[in-house]
Amino acid sequence: MEQTFLMIKPDAVQRNLIGTIIGKFEQKGFKLVAAKLMQVNETLAEEHYKEHIGKPFFKGLVEFITSGPVFAMVWEGENIIENSRQLIGKTNPLEAAPGTIRGDYGIVTHRNIIHGSDSKESADREIGLFFKEEEILSYQKEI
Ligand code: CMP
Repeated sequence: MEQTFLMIKPDAVQRNLIGTIIGKFEQKGFKLVAAKLMQVNETLAEEHYKEHIGKPFFKGLVEFITSGPVFAMVWEGENIIENSRQLIGKTNPLEAAPGTIRGDYGIVTHRNIIHGSDSKESADREIGLFFKEEEILSYQKEI
């Protein structure tokens, strides 16, 4: 079954949105298979966002993502990567539709509430960066 990496960013943790955001994915019917509240260090932030190295917003992005705890998760389900990107909405909250997470809770691109993997390759890479194999659970879910 397809898996994706989702990370509730420091702005959303500060604003007590962890439960609200997890609820969206639970209500959709997806399965949470790993989760942890953690502090991202500079090395992990730079590795996670390495495709953005050299871009004008890179330094600010690393500073932001290391500024406080994040809530890192692995979710599982059919077409979870595309589905979760739809639930999350566009990168710029101004362009994200109402009803999406960024559309409802975000205001600006550099504090956009949540990160979600954009492809199978990114999901595999990001899950591997944030979680050890034994932290990802395999269990039956009836509904
Ligand atoms: P995310 O989905 O975590 O992936 C890369 C992040 O870079 C993105 O969300 C934004 O938070 C950030 N980002 C992308 N473009 C810009 C930009 N133009 N200015 C500031 N931050 C950006």
